Amino acid sequence: MLATTERPRGVIERFRAHLPVSAATPVISLGEGSTPLIPSPRLSERVGRDCRVWVKYEGLNPTCSFKDRGMTVAVSKAVERGTAAVVCASTGNTSASAAAYAARAGIRCAVILPAGKIASGKLVQAFAYGATVVAIDGNFDDALRVVRELGSRPDFTIVNSINPDRIAGQKSAAFEIVEELGDAPDIHMLPVGNAGNISAYWAGYGEYSEAGLAATRPAMVGFQAAGSAPIYHGRVVEQPETIASAIRIGNPASWEMATRAIRDSRGAIDIVTDDEILEAQKWLASKEGIFVEPASAASIAGLFKCCDPARQPAYPFMQIPEGSRIVCTVTGHGLKDPDAVRFATATAVQPTEADVLRAIGF
Ligand code: F0G
Repeated sequence: MLATTERPRGVIERFRAHLPVSAATPVISLGEGSTPLIPSPRLSERVGRDCRVWVKYEGLNPTCSFKDRGMTVAVSKAVERGTAAVVCASTGNTSASAAAYAARAGIRCAVILPAGKIASGKLVQAFAYGATVVAIDGNFDDALRVVRELGSRPDFTIVNSINPDRIAGQKSAAFEIVEELGDAPDIHMLPVGNAGNISAYWAGYGEYSEAGLAATRPAMVGFQAAGSAPIYHGRVVEQPETIASAIRIGNPASWEMATRAIRDSRGAIDIVTDDEILEAQKWLASKEGIFVEPASAASIAGLFKCCDPARQPAYPFMQIPEGSRIVCTVTGHGLKDPDAVRFATATAVQPTEADVLRAIGF
């Protein structure tokens, strides 16, 4: 048994009182959570109107996405119940996380993925952690349908966000933000795919507010990719498309919960195009030093959209009030999806000082 200080202080240890765990729950942790909330002066300046912006950098979790927060709880509870295997559908990050936590727990993991649509870094992770990878001829929504069917069997536990233990763990990001800022922000922006995370944040803010730990709750503002925007359009998208493969989802599982979060928080749902997403990705990396995958950049692209006077915001709310405190969650690390990056490439020069100086352009 390790001393307390030697154990990784993950989400369960830090927020035990707010999670569905007991002393009997084995803690399967990789030290997830406690990610940096980065004050972002250039973003704040671009927004203007005396607003302050922070970026919650979830790419610094153990498998480099926010999924680890929920996965530590879901896999710990699965092990407590004696599950032999966990199963999930995924656009890549859930599968990477499930595979890692299953490896840590010593149980099997099967991941069902849309063939050819998973970012290379995420696929490498699933294989590296020893998951059984099944590619299907279909999209994420088809994969989730199959997983729901598999989940009715007693030997599998589904670890998609339809498992409430996942949502419970993901609330911890909202707890951390409140603890760090001393209250909830005024506006919280994040990308929306299967819609679990926006629902989890709203539940987390609600819980801290009810416990008297926060005086306010934020407006929840979600952004979908323009080609994969079922909540924005109010209808299922049969063939979702976007470069942001993590949020290439046409029929989100937590649609209703997310709609309630947006309505109850007086928030909004809007869309951003692939070009806006890639532009925001590049901007955030080069201006703030924060490199995120395309889906994550949707929150930043959305913020830019809201403060661009030339654009017509989808909702009146989205004219950001003066002096707002804004948190943007960026959900996954940029290295997960190197192929999506639109940056310059380097041309080789001769290995001499003169040639290198010329190339530098000084
Ligand atoms: N950002 C990233 C990087 C994601 O991987 C996801 C979802 C989201 C945002 C959207 O979060 O689904 O809670 O609305 N990825 C899932 C997956 C679907 O399989 O990895 P959401």
